[in-house]
Amino acid sequence: MTKIYAIANQKGGVGKTTSVINISAFLAASGRRTLVVDIDPQGNATSGLGYSKNEVEYTTYDVLLQEMAVEEACIHDDASRLDILPANPGLAGAEVELVNVIGREYQLKQALEKVDGRYEYILIDCPPSLGLLTLNALTAASDGILIPVQCEYLALEGLSQLTATIKLVQQYLNPSLAIRGLMMTMYDGRTNLSRQVVEEVRRHFPNKVFAAIVPRNVRLSEAPSYGQPINIYAPKSPGALAYKILAAELVKGDSK
Ligand SMILES: Nc1ncnc2c1ncn2[C@@H]1O[C@H](COP(=O)(O)OP(=O)(O)O)[C@@H](O)[C@H]1O
Ligand SMILES: [Mg+2]
Repeated sequence: MTKIYAIANQKGGVGKTTSVINISAFLAASGRRTLVVDIDPQGNATSGLGYSKNEVEYTTYDVLLQEMAVEEACIHDDASRLDILPANPGLAGAEVELVNVIGREYQLKQALEKVDGRYEYILIDCPPSLGLLTLNALTAASDGILIPVQCEYLALEGLSQLTATIKLVQQYLNPSLAIRGLMMTMYDGRTNLSRQVVEEVRRHFPNKVFAAIVPRNVRLSEAPSYGQPINIYAPKSPGALAYKILAAELVKGDSK
């Protein structure tokens, strides 16, 4: 049984890619075969996991528009149990080219159905927009959406737009799309603001906010330039500990 989650928030810089990379790495490290789908033309999940954006042979583009099998397009890493369907700037063209495709919102869903059972987890890293690439991710996300929220002023701003999009997707494209959880990121325990933001988000989304909170941690921002997830780059850092607990919390909730 494969769990498929989209990690989405149309706001940039809130920790989507950092969360995808590190939650996936901990899921894989705990023995769960995991696939990262990079559907952001920036390709930050791809490079953050150590694959050069300019050297990848195939990308999510080939799956969305060339009918290539995920199996063939993705990079396999049996040692880490973490595979990736990579992205690079060429994927940006898909946003436009998909417009004329019949079933344009269903391309990723259909492709992922064919790898069903190969993975325990599939995490899709979305771009900071609500265009066709993100719609493909939300349509394919059979188990819901994970929303990173940065602990900063006006954190809730923009979430109403996202929840409106989720409702539309539920109505027309993917009835099973629910908010699986909100993940608080870049928490700074020294400020009242961070604490207030967490409280406010909890009030707006009762029982939907993960207990594990990701602190602001410089190790998390350094790791991508080494192409390593945090469990390899700095396994004892506060950031690693937080993502380890977050991944465990996700798994625990899933097994209920
Ligand atoms: N918990 C954190 N502590 C410190 N830096 C972080 C943390 N989470 C993310 N960052 C950094 O913030 C920036 C934006 O994060 P990123 O995951 O790329 O966001 P998004 O994918 O939503 O655009 C990146 O430079 C990343 O390294
Ligand atoms: Mg990103």
